[in-house]
Amino acid sequence: MSRILVTTEIPAPGMDILRAAGDVDLGAVDHEQLVAACSSGEYSVVVSQLRDRFDAELLQTASIVGISNYAVGFDNIDIAAATQRGITVANTPGVLTNSTADIAMLLILSTARRAVEADSFVRSGSFTGWEPELLLGSDVSDRILGLAGFGRIARATARRALGFGMTVKFCPRPPGDREVSDDELGEFAGRVEHASWDEIVTTSDFLSLHVPLSDSTHHLVDAAVLGAMKPSAIVINTARGPVIDEAALVTALSEGTVAAAGLDVYEREPALEPGLADLPNTVLLPHVGSATVSVRSEMARLCATNAAAMVGGSMPAHPVNPDAWSHAG
Ligand code: GLV
Ligand code: GLV
Repeated sequence: MSRILVTTEIPAPGMDILRAAGDVDLGAVDHEQLVAACSSGEYSVVVSQLRDRFDAELLQTASIVGISNYAVGFDNIDIAAATQRGITVANTPGVLTNSTADIAMLLILSTARRAVEADSFVRSGSFTGWEPELLLGSDVSDRILGLAGFGRIARATARRALGFGMTVKFCPRPPGDREVSDDELGEFAGRVEHASWDEIVTTSDFLSLHVPLSDSTHHLVDAAVLGAMKPSAIVINTARGPVIDEAALVTALSEGTVAAAGLDVYEREPALEPGLADLPNTVLLPHVGSATVSVRSEMARLCATNAAAMVGGSMPAHPVNPDAWSHAG
């Protein structure tokens, strides 16, 4: 059983690596087809996308040994249920850190300086000459960037923000907290400030989210948090949509509770909360954090190599739940 199911073709060199490792089938577009394929006994490994949902029910009947997710995130997979069934899940960490931090910085700059509004202004023929008060935005330098999370992508964002002269604060595990040693702070010791979630919320000029989606981060930014922010504050999300209560965000943006939002991810992606796209004080991107040619190619290489390892009976290089491998025996 060395068949690999690929739900969506991945970029080069992914498919070549997969074809060298086993027989590859492309398919399973909807959830029902995915459930059927995973329980058919035909496949040992599935190469999946974030939109493929592996819930406890699917995993209960699945006869696969591994899932290689084409992403660093894996909130589309019930990891506890996978581990219990001895199904190893692998991801693509590291390679998309800088590209995602670039998008966070892009959203910080483009919301502050109203880049999308300004672009539409020029395209629509409204630009009739330099004006003292045309499209005034907010400063970025000397402003406070609050980071929710302090993982790889948050740190890469901090690095960029420091280069722009921002003051950077972070809360490593919001809404709670955890110790961060000087060792862990590393290059950031003395350059960024460890703060409580409450301080991040109430003092940030820009709040950028870099937490995985979990029960404790679902709606981390809700109406109460938005209400506690500065009216001039800007919310940036390159993590996962459901970390923000998107309906509450639309209300807050419409009522001036917060000033603007830059989003790359959405609560019910690809659907948008009604009203969101009508707000001029938003910059909305289609989940493109990792979307560069070289990053997607590196992700494909990692993802295919993870899948090939599992098909060949070895632990993948990037397991999310390494315990599952031993359970599978
Ligand atoms: C993208 O959102 C990823 O998790 O890789
Ligand atoms: C994601 O990979 C992160 O650690 O921020």
